[in-house]
Formats: sequence, structure tokens, C-alpha cells
Amino acid sequence: RTIRMEVSRYRPGEDAEPVFQDYEVPLMADWAVLDGLNYIKDRLDGSLSYRWSCRMGVCGSCGMNVNGEPRLTCGTFLTEYGEGPVRIEPLKGFPVIRDLVVDIDDFLAKLSSVRPWLIREGEEPPLTAEYAQTPEQLEAYKQYSMCINCLLCYSACPVYVLDPDFLGPAAMALAQRYNLDSRDMGDRFDVLNLEDSVWGCTFVGECTSVCPKHVDPAEAIQRYKLTAALRSVLPWSRR
Ligand code: FES
Repeated sequence: RTIRMEVSRYRPGEDAEPVFQDYEVPLMADWAVLDGLNYIKDRLDGSLSYRWSCRMGVCGSCGMNVNGEPRLTCGTFLTEYGEGPVRIEPLKGFPVIRDLVVDIDDFLAKLSSVRPWLIREGEEPPLTAEYAQTPEQLEAYKQYSMCINCLLCYSACPVYVLDPDFLGPAAMALAQRYNLDSRDMGDRFDVLNLEDSVWGCTFVGECTSVCPKHVDPAEAIQRYKLTAALRSVLPWSRR
């Protein structure tokens, strides 16, 4: 048995618009969508470009739109799509560099803008001292530390797709990861308390629905809205 994969192709300088190219690949019970792409690359068309690395849901590089939904292609089985076809497109909301490869520079800039490190008053990174933490203190931020930067949440976010200035789910979840860390002394109010940050989120919750690591960025953002609102009346309040 085979299944048809309709793959978006775009070659800069050659194609005005992306076009779909069809490939028949074996429909194996244990094949993920990424295995289908690798089959195309190895056996049918070596010019296909896409990103992947770990093949086990850890590196976050294989995110693509599969039949319109942002998914990790290494964790999505071809058999989920019955007889097919399976349509593969690059993640929405990002400029396409080539075929299924998107430009993530905007995301990387946003990620660093939230200062994703421990802020310690009177100390500069890199921090070398040890700061003991109880299991309860670890639990307070652990969920938000599971993000693998796969960008599925950005692709699913209706705000980011319409407003590229929006800080976006993963960056805000990461900011909360540090805000809620007992060792951190900052609160990132200057980056988060903005119209294009937490206040731009319309709480649709798609970011949380598509997150393969159950990070729940929507919850992280709503929690910070409460923090920011409290801080506007109690300026010394931090968390
Ligand atoms: Fe690493 Fe899919 S290849 S997450």
C-alpha cells in the first residue's frame, strides 16, 4: 500500500508562489510523516528541503503543517490519515526560505528579548554559584521549561499570523518559566506588559492545543496578565 503526499515546493528565485508536488510513498504502520519525507528525499527527489534532527520529539526542528495542522512530523504517523492524501506545508506565519524550511530569525529575536536566563541582582551572567531549590519550587515553573522551540504554537496563533509584532506564545511561556523560578529576581515587566505582549493575546488557546510538550502557553500568558494588573496597583508586587 502507498499513500500520496502532497508537498509544498518553493524555490526562491525560480518560483513566484509555492506549488504542490505529489509523491507516492509506502504506507507503513510505523512510519511517521517525517519517514515519508525522508523516503522522498532518499528515493524520489533529492532536491526536497526540510529540517529535522533528533527524530524523537526533542529537537523541535521538524514542525510543519500537516493537513492544515501544525505538527511535529517525527511524532505524527502517516496512518493517522487513512488512505490520504497527506498535505505537507511549511509552518504558517513565517517567511519560507525554501520548500518546507522557514525563517525563524524573528522568533529567535523575540526569545532573547525576554531575557531567558536567571536574573540576579548584583550578579551578571554567567552565574557560577549554586542556588538550592525545593521540589515544590521546581514544580512552580517546570511545565513551562518543557518547551522545545518547535514553533507549532506560533503557527497556530491567530494573533501572531496577523500581527508579526506580537511577542508570541513560546517567548512568553519562557519568560514565565524564569519569572516563576525561585532563583530569579526579575519579572520582565518591561517586555511582557505591552499591547504586543500579554495584552495582545486573545486567549483563543490554540497554542496550548497544538503544543506537543503540554507547556500551556495560554495559561502562562493569562497568569502574567494577573501579575501585571496587580503590579499596576501594587508596584512592589513581582509574581
Ligand atoms: Fe526532532 Fe522531530 S526531528 S522533534
